[in-house]
Amino acid sequence: MPKMPYRVGMTLESAPDSVVSAHSATPGSEWWRTAVIYQIYPRSFADSTGDGVGDLPGITSRLPALAELGIDAIWLSPFFRSPQKDAGYDVSNYCDVDPLFGTLADFDRLLEVAHGLGLKVIADMVPNHTSDQHVWFQEALASPEGSPERDRYMFRDGLGPNGDIPPNNWESVFGGPMWDRITNPDGTPGQWYLHIFDKSQPDLNWENPWVREQFYGILRFWLDRGVDGFRVDVAHGMIKQAGLPDYTPPAEGASMGGTGTDDSVLAPAIEDPTAPPEPPYWGQEGVHEIWRGWNRVLAEYEGDRVLCAEAWVDPLQKVALWVRPDEMSQAFNFAYMFTDWKAPALKRVITESIDAFGAVGAPATWVLSNHDVVRHASRLALTKDSPQGAGIGPNSPGKPDPVVGLRRARAATAMMLALPGSAYLYQGEELGLPEDMELPDESRQDPTWFRTQGEKYGRDGCRVPIPWESDRPAYGFNTSGHSWLPQPRDWAPFARDAQDGVPGSTLELYKDALRLRREHDLGSSTLTWVKGYGRSVVAFRTGDVLVLANLGKVAVELPVGEILLASEAITGGALPTDTTVWIHA
Ligand code: NOJ
Repeated sequence: MPKMPYRVGMTLESAPDSVVSAHSATPGSEWWRTAVIYQIYPRSFADSTGDGVGDLPGITSRLPALAELGIDAIWLSPFFRSPQKDAGYDVSNYCDVDPLFGTLADFDRLLEVAHGLGLKVIADMVPNHTSDQHVWFQEALASPEGSPERDRYMFRDGLGPNGDIPPNNWESVFGGPMWDRITNPDGTPGQWYLHIFDKSQPDLNWENPWVREQFYGILRFWLDRGVDGFRVDVAHGMIKQAGLPDYTPPAEGASMGGTGTDDSVLAPAIEDPTAPPEPPYWGQEGVHEIWRGWNRVLAEYEGDRVLCAEAWVDPLQKVALWVRPDEMSQAFNFAYMFTDWKAPALKRVITESIDAFGAVGAPATWVLSNHDVVRHASRLALTKDSPQGAGIGPNSPGKPDPVVGLRRARAATAMMLALPGSAYLYQGEELGLPEDMELPDESRQDPTWFRTQGEKYGRDGCRVPIPWESDRPAYGFNTSGHSWLPQPRDWAPFARDAQDGVPGSTLELYKDALRLRREHDLGSSTLTWVKGYGRSVVAFRTGDVLVLANLGKVAVELPVGEILLASEAITGGALPTDTTVWIHA
C-alpha cells in the first residue's frame, strides 16, 4: 500500500535532487536489460463484466496464460481515470483506476498475482498532456490569463487584431490545428491552448516546476503500490522550442511523431545529413533534465525499476540520448519496427541499434507491433500502394496478402527473439493476429479517423479484442459476446485454445522461442554476423546458436546441425523463403 497518499494539488515531498539513497542494483545486472515485455491493451485483453470493454480483473484472470507463454513482464496501457477520448491516453486523474477497468483494489490484486507468477508490471505514464477534464485544466480555464493555474498548460494569445488566428501553424499529430481557442467565463473568446494530439488532450507546460513536482508525486504513488516501472508516453515531446516558431513539415512528411497517423516513421535509421531539422515540438534538449529527475525518483526504491521511453525521433543515435545512465532505462526501437522486410536493411538497423544503445551502456530493444501501428502479420506484406502509417480499412488499396504476412511475421519474430537486449510483444501477436482491415466506419473510435474526416483509418484495426476460445461468445473475451470494436467472423482459428499444444501453431512458436531464448541466454549474448549465406539472408551467431533468416526468393542450403527452432517446417535440408531457423552451433 502507498506510504504517502497523494491528493491532487497537495504539497509533495521534497524535490528528488535532495534524495541521497539509491537502491539500483549493480549497473548491468538489471532484469529489464534482457526482458521480454508483453504489452496489454486493457480494453481489448479480457473483459470480466461483459460490458464489451476489457478490465483489470479480466487481465488478472488470464495472467497464468502469459506466465505459461514465457514472458518476463507486462506493460499495461493506461487504466487511469479518463474520459477515454484517446483510449485512456487522456488522463483526468493519474492516481485512480477508471471505473471502466475496475478499482485500485483490482489493481493491487493484479499486481499481487503477477508478482506471484514471477511477472513484473509496468504502468503507462502519460505526462505530455492531460485530459481536458483533469482538475488542473478545469482550474486553468476558470482562472485569469497569466495566473499560475494557466501556467500549468501552454496557453498563448492568438494572432491578428482579434486574436482569432492560432499562435502558430503547427498541425496536430491526429490532424487539424494543434491549437484550440477557449471561451472565457464571461462568454468572450479567450486564449488558445496547445494540444499535440486531440483537442481533449491539452499539453502540460513542463517548464513549470509545479508540473514537475506533481509528477514526482504521481510516480511515487504507483511505485509505493509496487509497480516495477513505467513506459513513458511521448517522452520526446514535453519541451517545445522557445518562442514556438512556425514549422512546416517537408512535403513528403518528415517527422510528425509517429503515432500511427503518419508514415514519416519509415525514415531510415542511418543519419542523413540532408534531413530536415526536428519539428520544434519533438526531441528538444530540455526533455533530458526531466528524465534525470524521474531517474532519481525511481532510485529511491528497492529493486530495479524501469523507465521506457516512447521517443519517436531519429536517428537511433538521438534515441540513445534518452537512455544515458542517469536518464531512462530503455527506449523503443521504432527504426527497427519500421525497417522494410529486406535483409541488408535489417542487418544495418540491427548493427546500428546495438552500437547506438551500447555506446551509452543501454540494452538494445526490439519491437514489431504495438497499439499504434498496423499489426506486423499484415504490415510485413504491405505493398507501396498502402501507406501503413495511416491504418488500413475497407477502402484501402493494395491489401496485404494474409498468408505472406503471417509467414513473414513468424520469421520476423523468430529473428527478433534471438537478438540481444530486451524485446516487446503486443497482445495477440503470439496468435498471429492480422490487422482487422474490415472494421465498419461506424464502429471506429480513433480520434485520427474523426480529425482527418475519415481520410486516415487510424489505429482501431490493431486494437480489436483478442480471441481466447474459438467457440465462446466474443471468442472468450467475455461471456456476453459484446465487444467495443467488433471482432472479425473468421478469427476462430486464431483463438488461443485452437493453437495451444498444436505443433507448428504461432502460439507454440512463440512459446518455444521464449523458452529457448531463456535457456540459451540469448538476451545477454553477443551477436556476431556470419558471412557466406548471401545478400538475402540475415545470418548471425549469438551464444551457441546460429540464426538464419531467409528473406530471399530462393531456398538456401542449411548447414549441418540440430535445428532448435524453425518458423516454418523444414524439409530437405533447405531454408525456404521467409523462414527463420535457430541451429545449435
Ligand atoms: C502515444 C500513444 O502510444 C498513443 O496511443 C497516443 O494516442 C499518443 N501517444 C497520445 O498520448
